[in-house]
Parts: sequence; structure tokens; C-alpha cells
Amino acid sequence: MSDIALQAATAARARKPGFTPRVGIVLGSGLGGIADLVTDATVIPYGDLSGFPVSGVVGHAGRLVLGTLGGVPVAVMQGRVHLYEGRPYSDIKIFVRLLKRLGCAAAFFTNAAGGLRLDLPPGTLMMVTDHINLLPGNPLAGPNDPAYGDQFPSMEGAYDAAFQDVLRDAAKRLGIGLKEGVYLGCLGPSFETPAEIRAFARLGADAVGMSTVPEVIVARHCGLRVAAMSVVTNLAAGLGGAHGHEQTLAAATSAAGDAGRLITAFLEDYARG
Ligand code: HPA
Repeated sequence: MSDIALQAATAARARKPGFTPRVGIVLGSGLGGIADLVTDATVIPYGDLSGFPVSGVVGHAGRLVLGTLGGVPVAVMQGRVHLYEGRPYSDIKIFVRLLKRLGCAAAFFTNAAGGLRLDLPPGTLMMVTDHINLLPGNPLAGPNDPAYGDQFPSMEGAYDAAFQDVLRDAAKRLGIGLKEGVYLGCLGPSFETPAEIRAFARLGADAVGMSTVPEVIVARHCGLRVAAMSVVTNLAAGLGGAHGHEQTLAAATSAAGDAGRLITAFLEDYARG
């Protein structure tokens, strides 16, 4: 079977010879502007990478940006593919494995999410400490590709403890409020019912969204260290306030400044080793 991630990495590398990113950063809805912080940037539309999945969702630019942020060579993915678009898990695997094939050792996932706690109002940044997978299936189901990893990867400690410490310290230093919690992944694209949100809260979820969980599973399978952060764009259904894609984009965009400063500080620490 042809390896599209490998081919895409070869094509991307040809656009920036000699460049090896160390950290991949996936920007969620409304957070794409963080890519503007990258210096010495080479911008590659996903469509230029043969066979690479292209997202059709408003608010997702669909570009790979190679350059430097916080002193670290990075591969920034401005836009992701979602299962709710009808894309198969194979697309999500390609997407994450491109980072691995480019040479990244770590991935920083961001997303927009609904808050399940009243202390997570719109605009809150929440570091993801663990997840609950309520998406259908699993991206690793099917024949395992041993070139990437073992068939049964552990999800214990999936969200790197040392990275969490770095983020906590950076937030404190910068005076940015950073909450912590468990992210629950749903298929979407419909938002949840109030009854579902009450059920999810009892399951132990703090935020709900439609991405990230499969990406983290694929990332851990291939040995990428993972950090993840949600931008809470609304209180989840039944808790009051508006929600919808417009609200998601508006609230995420307004929180993108702090999110960008935090990611940059994280990378500065990463650069120090
Ligand atoms: N639910 C699911 N996904 C989301 C939400 C939400 O309330 N807000 C932003 N993404």
C-alpha cells in the first residue's frame, strides 16, 4: 500500500530543503492566525501534497506552514480533517503521520470546545489532561502498520506529564489563566443535547468537541509526545449561552492571542531542552 504521509513529507521537504521540524502544531477552528507567528515561513497548501486530505470546513485554511516559532523548527497545520465531514480515519492517520514523517518528535493539538463546567466560560483556555473517546470506532482499527507502531498502544499518560508542567509554568509566568480538564470527543456535526451534556459531565468530561481524540490516538501509536489545549468557545448545550459554528469561530479567534503566546512559551521551553 502506498504511504501518502511519506509521499506528502517528501513533497513538503522539497519545498524547504534541509529543514526538519521538531514539533507539529495543529490549529483548530478560529485559531489558524497563530500560524502568522511563525517566522521564515514556507506555506504549503494541503492541495499541493498529492493525496493529502483537504478540509472543507469554514475556519480551516488547509495549509502546512514550515518555519520557526519560539526558537523551535515547527510544522504548523492550519486546519485539520474531521470525521464529521465524512472523511475516513485513514485521512486522519495521514494527517498526523505526516508530522512523524517530517521528523517531529512531539505534537501540540489545539481545538475549540464546549465547556461542561461553569468555570469554563467562552474564551477560557483549558489544557487537556486526558480524553474520553465517544467517536465511533478507533483510527487504529484494522491491519496495523508496524512501520508506525505496535498494534495495542497504551493511552495511559497520553498527554505528556512533562509537557503539562511546562504549560502550567508558562501560563503562570505569562499571567494567562489556564484551566485543566478531560476532553470528550464526539462525532458531530450536530451539537449535543442538554441530556447528553449532563451524561458526559457524569462520565468525567470537562469539555466536549469534535476532533483531537483520534489524532492523539494516532500520534501516540507512532510515538509522538502529545500536548493539547482547548479553547472553550461556549458553554455546552443546556448550560446557557449561545453555541454554533459562528460562535465557535468568534470566541476562538478572540482567545487566539493568549493561546499563541502560551504555545510560543511552551516552544521556548522545548528549545531549552
Ligand atoms: N460541542 C461540540 N463541539 C464544540 C462545541 C460544543 O459545544 N463548541 C465548540 N466545538
